[in-house]
Amino acid sequence: MSHLMHRNLRQPLATAVRAEGIYIYDAEGRAYIDACGGAAVSCLGHGHPRIREAILRQLDTIAYAHTSFFTTEAAERLADRLVADAPPGIGHAIILNGGSEAVETALKMARQYHVERGEPQRDVVIARRQSYHGNTLGALATGGNEGRRRTFRPLLIETRHIGPCFAYRHMRPGESEADYAARAARELEDEILSVGPDRVIAFVAETVVGATAGAVPPVGDYFKRIRAICDRFGVLLILDEVMSGMGRTGTLHACEQEGIAPDIEVIGKGLGAGYEPVSAVLVADRVYEAFANGSGAFSHGHTYMGHPVAAAAALAVQEAIAEDDLLAAVRRRGDHLRRTLEARFGNSPHVGDIRGRGLFLGLELVQDRGSCEPFDPSLQLHARLKQTALRKGLMIYPSGGTIDGTRGDHILLAPPFILTEDQSDEIVRRLEETIDEVIRAL
Ligand SMILES: Cc1ncc(COP(=O)(O)O)c(C=O)c1O
Repeated sequence: MSHLMHRNLRQPLATAVRAEGIYIYDAEGRAYIDACGGAAVSCLGHGHPRIREAILRQLDTIAYAHTSFFTTEAAERLADRLVADAPPGIGHAIILNGGSEAVETALKMARQYHVERGEPQRDVVIARRQSYHGNTLGALATGGNEGRRRTFRPLLIETRHIGPCFAYRHMRPGESEADYAARAARELEDEILSVGPDRVIAFVAETVVGATAGAVPPVGDYFKRIRAICDRFGVLLILDEVMSGMGRTGTLHACEQEGIAPDIEVIGKGLGAGYEPVSAVLVADRVYEAFANGSGAFSHGHTYMGHPVAAAAALAVQEAIAEDDLLAAVRRRGDHLRRTLEARFGNSPHVGDIRGRGLFLGLELVQDRGSCEPFDPSLQLHARLKQTALRKGLMIYPSGGTIDGTRGDHILLAPPFILTEDQSDEIVRRLEETIDEVIRAL
């Protein structure tokens, strides 16, 4: 009998006892290909010697010092590295533990920024439907997935939500990507005007939407327009790259491909590659300066922020990515995986869309590719896919509610950057067997 209260109280879990490269092994000796890095976390695979050494070295030096008393070399070096590699205008970093905590930090930073500048009336955050920003209350309120919010709605701060930039579901027949990008971005302007421009704190968006929509990239100049709208109304742009950042899409930051830089960026997951719990908030100079020229302090902190062991691990991850040229590998291996997926599923009646960037790919499942009609949510297709894939020794990250929080199913793939072509082909083979078996049994 387990004394751990697991996420699902009815679903027994295998015990993971060992992991190496792209494989996790359970106590029965079964091997699982980690084709999703857990939840887009394990970007270097498992058991990377360099990260292990960096953690041990840091433990032998100093494991912990509270950040209200000391700084540490490990945290300073990670911040130097993050800033050196950051989008233009970013000059500082706050190091935290998880994605939700970092999103909370970003929200509070944005609010205090306006207070420091003498605009305390700004009290509204705008985000997007079908986004996920974390499970703590502020982050959950910001997220736009109704399925995840429903139970907790009475506890959530009021947040405005506009539509996502989601071409497969929302681009109209005959509409160009450019026109759709303009229409989707205009929703932000309309919402700011409806709230009152002097009341809006920030707009929060995942650069490439991950868990709730399945690797949905923006189209056209959507983010350039969003950046311009934010600037026009003095609204801060917070990009949540907890899932899509740190190399996953083939560039270190997903927003590099959009040609824009945020005021505040949130990163996590791949930052520590699963070796330590670590996330960060990257802060643009103009935001930092409001604090520096104002009260001189950010009213926020956590016991384990700036943790030296986590920082040492994250720095080693960044060094491994650079030295092994893994961003180029993500682009190359991402192209291969995508081409293989397209070859296998491009004409499948039940795979309506294959999308994403780099090694961050999504497949949306439909009853019929012509009508794009989703499966009945009561079938829980995504849960069946996950269980069947696991039986076949394949870890994938499916989810339901892709379209509106209730309808739609997708599968997210986010394998380690060290994936070989043979391993990639094996993932697609097992995935095809999984989808066939699940759909045949409906
Ligand atoms: C885009 C995004 N933001 C925030 C989070 C929350 O991160 P965490 O689960 O580490 O709190 C996630 C987690 O999936 C995420 O995908």
